[in-house]
Amino acid sequence: MDFGLKAFDFSIPRSVTSIQSSFTMPPYDDIREEIKSRVDIVDLVSDYLSLKKTGQNWRGLCPFHTEKTPSFTVSPAKQIYHCFGCGSGGDIFSFLVNYENLTFNEALKVLAKRAGVTLKPSQKSDVKAGEKEALYNIHNDALAFFRQNLAKSQEAIAYLNKRGIESDAQKLFEIGYASKSWDALLAYLKRKGYAPEIMKKAGLITQGAKGSYDTFRERIIFPINDLKGDVIAFGGRAVNGSEPKYLNSPETLIFNKRGVLYGLNRAKHSIKETGKILLMEGYIDVITAHLHGFTNTVAPLGTALTTEHGILIRRFTENVILVFDGDKAGVKATKSAASALLESGLNVKILSLPDKEDPDSFIRKNGKEAFIALLENPLSIIDFFMIHGGDKNLTAREAIEVISRMPDGVLQGDYVRMLSERIGVNESFIIQDLKKIKKQSADVYNKPAAVAAQQKHKPKPQDEVSIIKLLLYLPEEIERVSRELSAEDFNDKTTMSIYKKIMEGFTDFNDLIMQCKSAEEKDFLTKVSLREDLDNPKKELIECIERFRSRKRKIRLDELQIRIKDAELKKDNSLLRTLLGEHKFLKSGGN
Ligand code: GTP
Ligand code: MN
Repeated sequence: MDFGLKAFDFSIPRSVTSIQSSFTMPPYDDIREEIKSRVDIVDLVSDYLSLKKTGQNWRGLCPFHTEKTPSFTVSPAKQIYHCFGCGSGGDIFSFLVNYENLTFNEALKVLAKRAGVTLKPSQKSDVKAGEKEALYNIHNDALAFFRQNLAKSQEAIAYLNKRGIESDAQKLFEIGYASKSWDALLAYLKRKGYAPEIMKKAGLITQGAKGSYDTFRERIIFPINDLKGDVIAFGGRAVNGSEPKYLNSPETLIFNKRGVLYGLNRAKHSIKETGKILLMEGYIDVITAHLHGFTNTVAPLGTALTTEHGILIRRFTENVILVFDGDKAGVKATKSAASALLESGLNVKILSLPDKEDPDSFIRKNGKEAFIALLENPLSIIDFFMIHGGDKNLTAREAIEVISRMPDGVLQGDYVRMLSERIGVNESFIIQDLKKIKKQSADVYNKPAAVAAQQKHKPKPQDEVSIIKLLLYLPEEIERVSRELSAEDFNDKTTMSIYKKIMEGFTDFNDLIMQCKSAEEKDFLTKVSLREDLDNPKKELIECIERFRSRKRKIRLDELQIRIKDAELKKDNSLLRTLLGEHKFLKSGGN
């Protein structure tokens, strides 16, 4: 029998967290609520820090600031957390976003998985989502296979031991081995039920003239993870002296080389704690550094550092220390890396290693303490240029070129001062040079021959730029915005195309950038994502949409005026009435 107890509603009204606007609630919020109802915040937070029950609530040491007495409080009744020390607070989503430094969408995915809720991707991206899922699975299975292989190969184990990566480290970094066989992985994946197409799409199998074969053979395998910890690619180091020394997975739907740093998933907490990131050149450098306690170390994947890497790093810290090889190639790589990272608005310092040493060999030879000592006095980029530049003029020119690309005027000023001191040239001369460089790059677009380029660089409508920027910041608003604006409302080719892509199914920034084929789109995206923290993004978004609407209205009004004149001339009274009606409606603020 049902005694009608349900009639009593004990629930507390939900706090109003969503945007204050005239928009109707999209189903998106239902999913958020569904996940929230299934994931208990105390359970979730307890996975990351230890909590003690105090009365109704739970308490622990706040992970978002340093404290000795616990003021981080989790309320099971309200399903929120709040720190009385630093004021941070929120729900399960904001906890993961802040703790793991995930984007909202990444957190949504992690929590959906935990809640057992299937996220329904927008229809157009259904196929893609399925393929991504398959790619994650196949990498996972391939890793299991490579790791089994390593356990069976005395040779590979001996090689790793020789490099100082012993049993525990092999497990920690989930290192594997691909044997000499041409088709061991292929056969294994077939047994697991994978179709050859997906093996090829993952880059694990290569199609040759005479058939397909395993891409990685006789190589130590380093799995490459995304920030969630999923395996998205492999790096393979040859152990038999064959070329290339390192072979990486090709780019796939889930792997964008330029947007990944090896070791970042393991290093991210340490980076936030220490307030800096150590950037080295290779896999083995990273592993050695971690094993010696430098757990804030990462490396690019054998590619040059780009502003995309810079953006990724900025999610965790603004302070980068570059520790590249001490040889000539290392110096060159350092200069280009420093320049790309400064351009992303990061503070860059450099550790100079003795010639012929790389971080791995230096740490293993001289020990942890010697490396700590080096870390105490990193070089500024100006000093690095002074030491490794040619003559004074050349150094100055190189340094000014780099300084000219820095986005932050204040920081730029600091560097100008530093350079002026080091080379003994008055600041004003350096500033003159800086201006010249800026003018030169502007001139390129003013020459008649560069009409196309000028077109390309003509300023984009501010609101169109803002919408993209805001959507990247507030992906949870995409669905609402999609009902307000269509791609046709955009005037600029680049913003229009990117808006279309976002509407077709946005997952994250990396994914979006991978979908952009033109350099111009990529460039634009990297630039807008270099955003300062926005004060009130939701309010800005609403205002921006309002401006779009009013622009649309103005355009339509102008159009109507012309058509009204036309109708008057033609004496088409019934058309005139309709047009005047619409005109009046729009004039009075209708949409
Ligand atoms: P290890 O013996 O593995 O420590 O190599 P190393 O110290 O000589 O490193 P090196 O400076 O040659 O390489 C550093 C990083 O550059 C590696 O971890 C790779 O990411 C990348 N790399 C080196 N050689 C190659 C190559 O032939 N192809 C690719 N794609 N990447 C490479
Ligand atoms: Mn090395």
